Amino acid sequence: MKRIGILTSGGDCSGMNAAIRAAARTALRMNIEMVGFRKGYLGLMKGDCLTLDNKAVSGILHRGGTFLQSARSPEFRTPEGQQQALAILKELGVEGLVVLGGDGSLTGALALHRLGFPVVGIPASIDNDIPYTDMAIGVDTALNNIIYSVDCIKDTASSHARAFVIEVMGRNSGYLASIAAIATGAEYALVPERAYNLTEICQQLRARYEEGRDNAIIIVAEGAGHAQEVADSIKDAIGFETRVTVLGHYQRGGAPTVFDRLLASRFGKKAVELLVSGTSGIMVGLSCNSMLATPLEDVIRGEKRPQDEVLRLAEVLGI
Ligand code: F6P
Repeated sequence: MKRIGILTSGGDCSGMNAAIRAAARTALRMNIEMVGFRKGYLGLMKGDCLTLDNKAVSGILHRGGTFLQSARSPEFRTPEGQQQALAILKELGVEGLVVLGGDGSLTGALALHRLGFPVVGIPASIDNDIPYTDMAIGVDTALNNIIYSVDCIKDTASSHARAFVIEVMGRNSGYLASIAAIATGAEYALVPERAYNLTEICQQLRARYEEGRDNAIIIVAEGAGHAQEVADSIKDAIGFETRVTVLGHYQRGGAPTVFDRLLASRFGKKAVELLVSGTSGIMVGLSCNSMLATPLEDVIRGEKRPQDEVLRLAEVLGI
């Protein structure tokens, strides 16, 4: 291979830059030119790209987000969009592609692979809902952002004797909410994977209040409900005041943690090595701290392992 491409697609996350840098540096050491497409599949369809030489990828490792920018691109889901992308790749002499993103972006990568174009995927999404990897890039940084915020909120919750309902991201996954609840000692984690009963929660909070425990943290995964609605349903029944915080996109940004910098660098290097060795239609992943390579077909068909162990831990800890 003489020239390969890379793009970041879907929701951004911290660590994407570290992966781009590692992929580019791995390619350059093999005397392969790397080009980066701007704004994910949108840039690919337009041929909007830049050469990623050593200078282009220096000074980005510690920055959150993606310097290539990202986008969600419904156009690329159509056969016309995919043919347009293939024509651009051919025109630019790009012989393989590394795609960073979540399930939608990896589905796009699989489409290119099925059309005969060499592609390797890297899991990158704060939701941690991608099968065949213990962790995706960005999850650890998002959790650290959440935990910092919840710790701050706990201070003011205890000062004012209030219950806080805090909404975190995760789309249909309760991973961020359950891990954040365990790591902050929250009273409740409401997640889509487990049914919850607000009447029971109110009774328990009321009983705690009567014992003198006059503050509480309830973490709600966005896939399990809206924080404001949860707060509205409990506010008159628990005995103390209720406030709401929706952490929103704050969770996705910021300097990547050491874990994310290292994971992203490992994924970036491995993805290029696989591509150059002639492997296509694969996603790199992390399993028991080793690099794993799984067919994208299985990733897209598969289900993220249920979080039974995490949820049981939460139960034992009284969450
Ligand atoms: O998939 C990552 C994610 O941050 C989800 O947790 C969230 O539901 C969604 O993206 C938000 O998307 P957008 O940035 O397009 O509002």
